Amino acid sequence: MLVYGGSGSQAGPTVTHLLQRGHTPHVLTRNYDKASELRAVGAVPVVGDLGNFECLCAASSEVDAVAFLLPAFLENPDDGFKFGRHAIDAASRAGVEMFVWNTSGEVSDDDSAPNAKLSILRHLQASSLPYLLLEPTTYMENWLGPWTAPSVRDKNLLTYPVLADRKIGWIASDDVGALVVAALERPQLAGNRYPISGIEAPTGPELAATFTEACGRVIRYRTLSPGEMGAVLDEAFGAGTGDRVAQMYRQEQNDPDPPRKYHDMTPVLDALPVQMSTIRDWVQTHHEVFAQ
Ligand SMILES: NC(=O)c1ccc[n+]([C@@H]2O[C@H](COP(=O)([O-])OP(=O)(O)OC[C@H]3O[C@@H](n4cnc5c(N)ncnc54)[C@H](OP(=O)(O)O)[C@@H]3O)[C@@H](O)[C@H]2O)c1
Repeated sequence: MLVYGGSGSQAGPTVTHLLQRGHTPHVLTRNYDKASELRAVGAVPVVGDLGNFECLCAASSEVDAVAFLLPAFLENPDDGFKFGRHAIDAASRAGVEMFVWNTSGEVSDDDSAPNAKLSILRHLQASSLPYLLLEPTTYMENWLGPWTAPSVRDKNLLTYPVLADRKIGWIASDDVGALVVAALERPQLAGNRYPISGIEAPTGPELAATFTEACGRVIRYRTLSPGEMGAVLDEAFGAGTGDRVAQMYRQEQNDPDPPRKYHDMTPVLDALPVQMSTIRDWVQTHHEVFAQ
């Protein structure tokens, strides 16, 4: 099975779960050091770039299924649709049996502005590929970022740019990886599009209460303003990177009726039987990040 983004945070767990299930993941990477690390854990690295269509054709011809992911941060953000089109056309040409796309978030129907994910979805629908979409809410791994983890550790404040009363169905990327693998193993489910979330949907203060229990000290919730979030991103990733994200949170915080960010997972787990993580377990697994 071919995994895109499998040397990174979102799709790394797909590689782990494929190995645990006895599959041989082929993983695209541009980086020879990461290729060695992948080889060391039993994966087959494929050195190449999403921009190189012929390379994706060769990689796809070696596998019977594809786990696609559009990386979150592209060197050129305008490359998104091209990269998706390359992966889809390469998989079609190779005649793969299943193309599972972790869309990293909801694929919005709004085409009033450039929307790479919607363009990729339309290209997929126009192809003859058997495909399945997993549309996750928000990863628990976001709490590891510089906008949350240092503040929990140093100030006992769980800071995130989401209004305190908003319920979020936080999902562990490990669970998304397990769901991707369950979908790859079930080509009979092709054609489905599953919105997915974690099995809990706390408000900000409820989330802080779970952190309090898991960390053994009182932790409170504080909403970050979009400007504060943008400033943290600028500092972490370079000036200018925070603007787009800050704008996204500004719209979300000002939306009187924002889209729901949690889902009933019962039908999904009936189709894709996976043991889902609780937030408490996830925090305890990562306790050293939040420890004082
Ligand atoms: N819904 C959400 O909450 C949400 C959604 C998206 C992202 N995020 C967060 O964003 C962060 C980043 O996640 P991520 O996994 O996307 O990024 P990442 O950990 O930086 O990994 C990026 C992956 O994409 C690959 N890649 C990038 N450009 C490529 C290209 N041109 N050709 C081939 N492969 C390419 C990289 O491969 P090589 O470097 O090995 O070549 C790597 O495997 C995570 O913390 C995640 O939780 C959250």
